[in-house]
Amino acid sequence: EGAGAGRDIGGDGIGPDVVAQAVRVLTALDLGLDFAEAPVGGHAYRVAGHPLPPETLALAARADAILFGAVGDPDCDGLERQLRPEQAILGLRRELGLFANLRPARLFPGLADASALRPEVAGAIDLMIVRELTGDVYFGTPRGRRTTADGLREGFDTMRYDEAEIARIARLGFETARGRRGRLCSVDKANVLETSQLWRDVVTEIAAEYSDVALTHMYVDNAAMQLVRAPGQFDTIVTGNLFGDILSDQASMCVGSIGLLPSASLDAAGKGLYEPIHGSAPDIAGQDRANPLATILSAAMMLRHSLGLADAAARIEAAVAAVLASGARTADLGGTIGTAAMGDRVIAALAA
Ligand code: NAD
Ligand code: IPM
Ligand code: MN
Repeated sequence: EGAGAGRDIGGDGIGPDVVAQAVRVLTALDLGLDFAEAPVGGHAYRVAGHPLPPETLALAARADAILFGAVGDPDCDGLERQLRPEQAILGLRRELGLFANLRPARLFPGLADASALRPEVAGAIDLMIVRELTGDVYFGTPRGRRTTADGLREGFDTMRYDEAEIARIARLGFETARGRRGRLCSVDKANVLETSQLWRDVVTEIAAEYSDVALTHMYVDNAAMQLVRAPGQFDTIVTGNLFGDILSDQASMCVGSIGLLPSASLDAAGKGLYEPIHGSAPDIAGQDRANPLATILSAAMMLRHSLGLADAAARIEAAVAAVLASGARTADLGGTIGTAAMGDRVIAALAA
């Protein structure tokens, strides 16, 4: 997805608002990128009858990289599961084999006051969550709804990982930690769940290949507590799909806003989909109020991880840091700057 301000850009809710700004920033860098866009989510359901039309999946499969906004629309919550907007992002992840989700969180200079934590606690945050993205209770079967023999409605899902799925995300966790400060914390619920005991066993086995990385294990409930008590203790976190989803939203408020956290979803070959960790925010959609920085930073991750343009990525990141240091803030950070004006600021900072 990408290109100008086309009507298929960015998915649902604030997706189009924020992707439009990221595309403006990429265009300003004059990198010679070819953009193509396709409908996705609730918007695609309306125009094409399915949240992930075959043409959209085919375009994503052909592309060198995918920039994704958000999907999700309250008007679609009554649809059968397979037609809901969220199935589009789940389908892209599964069909494209995007098993590894990198979600960095660090405190930008000047933003300590925006954190939900005390400034001195927030100031220490520089962590990377490596979230498994194509397994776990999200995709396990059987799942469904039925009526029990007693006539009660019942819902069920299956939490499931096999050792190969755990091993490949564990290796990426160790590699990531090796490129950072050399510490990997594996988060699970091995005290209760069989899936998590296997996770812990396999991660521990893989650790033998990475003697230079210090591995620790932590239960997810404790991790949630530690993330607000002393987040500076974390370097790289590796965890499953569900725990990673929850912990990354929590980490976002520790550095100021969910509107700041980008992500990369990678396959085994380095192809990727790039999206902010937030959703379609229907409460502020179309009002020029969304923070576009998470998506702009996702575009930077795209340049670095999929397009071999690390210098351009660093330029975007430096521009975002400069804009935040200047005090410019969207509403989520307590400011008054609109979505498009924030895009203008970043583009101006690129030139500076
Ligand atoms: P959300 O992330 O969309 O919004 C949560 C809160 O954060 C809202 O108050 C919203 O206004 C605010 N917020 C989010 N992004 C913001 C931004 N960039 N700038 C300023 N404020 C921002 O989560 P939700 O409300 O739980 O979900 C809304 C819809 O989005 C649902 O349909 C959900 O399924 C979907 N969703 C999609 C994705 C995705 O496409 N990857 C991710 C999360 C949620
Ligand atoms: C995210 C979202 C998705 C997830 C939903 C919309 C399927 O919350 O990307 O974090 O749970 O992975
Ligand atoms: Mn989420």
